[in-house]
Amino acid sequence: MIRPILWFLARLPLLVLILVVSLIMSSCSMLGMNYASLETTNKAAPEPALDVAAVTVEGSPAREALKQKFEDVLYGPWPAGMPVSFGDWQMIDPEYLDGRGTLEEVAITVGSGESASTFHLVTAFPKASGPVPVVINQTFSSTCSVFPDERATDEDGTFCDGPKITGALGWLETEIFGTYISVAPVGRYFDAGLAYASFYASDFIPDSKKEAPAAMAALGGPVNPTSALMAWAYSFSAATDVLEADPRIDPQEIAVMGHSRHGKSALMAAVWDRRIAAVVAHQSGFAGASLSRSHTGERLDRMAKAYPHWLAPQAQEWLDKLDEIPVDQHELLALVAPTPVLLGNGRRDVWSDPNSSFRAAEAASAAYEVTGHPGLTVSGMQDFDPAAGIAWWLRPGGHSVVSEDIDAFTTFLHDHLVRERPPQYAVH
Ligand code: GCU
Repeated sequence: MIRPILWFLARLPLLVLILVVSLIMSSCSMLGMNYASLETTNKAAPEPALDVAAVTVEGSPAREALKQKFEDVLYGPWPAGMPVSFGDWQMIDPEYLDGRGTLEEVAITVGSGESASTFHLVTAFPKASGPVPVVINQTFSSTCSVFPDERATDEDGTFCDGPKITGALGWLETEIFGTYISVAPVGRYFDAGLAYASFYASDFIPDSKKEAPAAMAALGGPVNPTSALMAWAYSFSAATDVLEADPRIDPQEIAVMGHSRHGKSALMAAVWDRRIAAVVAHQSGFAGASLSRSHTGERLDRMAKAYPHWLAPQAQEWLDKLDEIPVDQHELLALVAPTPVLLGNGRRDVWSDPNSSFRAAEAASAAYEVTGHPGLTVSGMQDFDPAAGIAWWLRPGGHSVVSEDIDAFTTFLHDHLVRERPPQYAVH
C-alpha cells in the first residue's frame, strides 16, 4: 500500500506542472495547437469602408471624427492636457553591458493632486557621439524582471533584488511565452543603433479590473482616461516627453513597442501622439490590429468580458452586435499611417487572430500609399518586408516573444529610424 502512495507523491510536482501548463495553454492561447489560416481572399472585406484620402490629412475634420468615434465606441477619451512632470535621471549602472552604455532611470508623474501616478522609466543609453533613436517598450513584467541584474526601482519604491518570477514558474513562463517575454535583450538593440527604454505599465495604472477604474478617475484631469489601454497609450506619450527632452536622443526618431495588450496601447499611442516615429505592435489582437468583426480566435466580446477595464465602459454595449460596431481596426491602422508599423504574429497564435490582422493591414495599406509611402508590400502572410510602411511579420509558434521576433523588431527599427546615419552618430 505504502509503495503506490510514495510513487504518487514522488510524481506529484510533475503532475501539478502538467496541470498548470494545460490550464494556461487552454485558457490563453486556444491550446496553441491550431494554425492561423493563410487564406485571406475568401473572407469579407473589412467594414466600414475607409476614406483614406480624408483620414490621413493631419487635423482634418474626417480624421478628428474617426478618432472621436474610436473614443466614443471603444477607448474613451485621450487624456489631452493631463500634466506630465519628471525628475532627473538617476544612474543605475555607469558601465552597463561591459561599458557599452549606461543604464539610468527617471520618475515620471502623470496627473495632478494627491492621486497623480508616478512610474519609473528605465533607459539604456548606448555610448554614441550624437543623438540616437530610441524604442520605448511597455511591459507586463516588472522592471525587475526586464533588467534582472540591475538595481532599478521596484513598484513599491525599494530597489529590485533580481527578477520577480523565478524557479519553476519562471521556467514555465519562458517556455510558454518565450525567452524575451520579460528580459530585454538590450545588446541587440544597441547593435541595431538604438537606445532602449522600458517601463512597467501597471506601475502607472494597475492592470486590474478592480483597481484600474478608480486609479484613472483619480488622476486629476483635465480629461481622465476611462480605459486602461488609453491610459497606457498616454504613458507612452509621457515617456516620449522625457526622452525627446534628452540631448542623447534624436527627438524625431522615438518608437513605441509592446506585446499583446501593450501592442494595442502602442498602436493607440501612435494615433493620438503624432510625435511617435514608428510602432512595433506584436500580437496585438483584438482592440489592436485584429478586426472586431472577426469570429476567429479570442474575439472582441470575449476580451471585453474578461478584461473590462481595458476598454471604456460603453464598449460593453457593442459586444452582442459586433457586426454593427461603428469602427473597426483597419481604420485604427489607417490613422497610424504614414507612421511605420510592424505587426508581429505567430502562426499558432490563433487567439490574437493573425488572419484578420492581415486583412486589416491590407485595407489600411491605401492610407500609406495616398501619403506617398509604401504600405503593405508583401503579397502573402508568410512574407516579410521590414522596410515597408506596414511591415507584416508572421513566424511559426505561439503567443510569445522569441529570438526571431527580436531580429524582426531590430531590423524594422533600424530600417526606419537609424537608416544611413552619418558615422559620427554611430553607436560604439
Ligand atoms: C489575454 C487577452 C488578449 C491579450 C493577451 C495579452 O490573452 O485575452 O487580448 O492580448 O492577454 O496581453 O497577452
